[in-house]
Amino acid sequence: MIVCRSKAEIAKLRRVNQLVARILAEIRRMAVPGATTREINTSAETRVREAGAVPAFKGYHGYPATVCASINEQVVHGIPSNRRLADGDVLSIDMGAKLDGFYGDCAVTVPVGRVSPEAERLLRVTEEALFHGIEAVRPGARISDIGAAVQRHVEAHGFSVVREFVGHGIGTALHEEPQIANYGPGGRGPRLAEGMVLAIEPMVNLGGAGVKVLGDGWTAVTRDGSLSAHFEHTVVVTPEGCEILTLLEDDAARARELMGAAVQNNW
Ligand code: MF3
Ligand code: CO
Repeated sequence: MIVCRSKAEIAKLRRVNQLVARILAEIRRMAVPGATTREINTSAETRVREAGAVPAFKGYHGYPATVCASINEQVVHGIPSNRRLADGDVLSIDMGAKLDGFYGDCAVTVPVGRVSPEAERLLRVTEEALFHGIEAVRPGARISDIGAAVQRHVEAHGFSVVREFVGHGIGTALHEEPQIANYGPGGRGPRLAEGMVLAIEPMVNLGGAGVKVLGDGWTAVTRDGSLSAHFEHTVVVTPEGCEILTLLEDDAARARELMGAAVQNNW
């Protein structure tokens, strides 16, 4: 069953998702050559707890940290460590938190120092694909319309969509129904309705779509070693389309650029 949230529940979801987005905007600035992903993780955890919230990933099926920090060919679920970021790396930072019983979830991939034109293009196309997926969200649309829009954009640019990990409903649990694949034909699956809350999170590889999980049981990497990017927003279905709960007011202009006038937020 896909839950439709009330106005009061959506207000709580807006609060936690705005918190996650704000902290992510702060910690992404730490992604500079020489920094470790452990430092970024520690700062994220401190900020989450200062806000009276709880990290959502830490302890989830045994995951050991507040953020996932995935470098270069790491796709998702990289564990923060003492590895130092290098000029030219790309770093995906994924963070979730729980506040007042409700969850927020958001991810970005950022360049470290100066990155190659190819890496820049991968980041841009992946974020655009996320916004194309978000544009497909409105009452009456079907779940698979999201993945169809993501895949069309990614493949038009010669990149590939990861199949093994999907987006998800989110609310009083981090992962709720439905699963949201980032590929496949549109027009399938349940119809979207006002009040549904979805975390949409395309993962895109510069090379082939194949991934494998390393011996730590978490870190997913591309099979061919090519770079990978990951962007995630949490959205709620509104009468006219959707509101992006993890969009900061400061980023609204950029979001409008990436997906037309469809931004429905009222901060
Ligand atoms: N955003 C990812 C997801 O929703 C991150 C989960 S990390 C985990 O699946 F540790 F919580 F699994
Ligand atoms: Co998620």
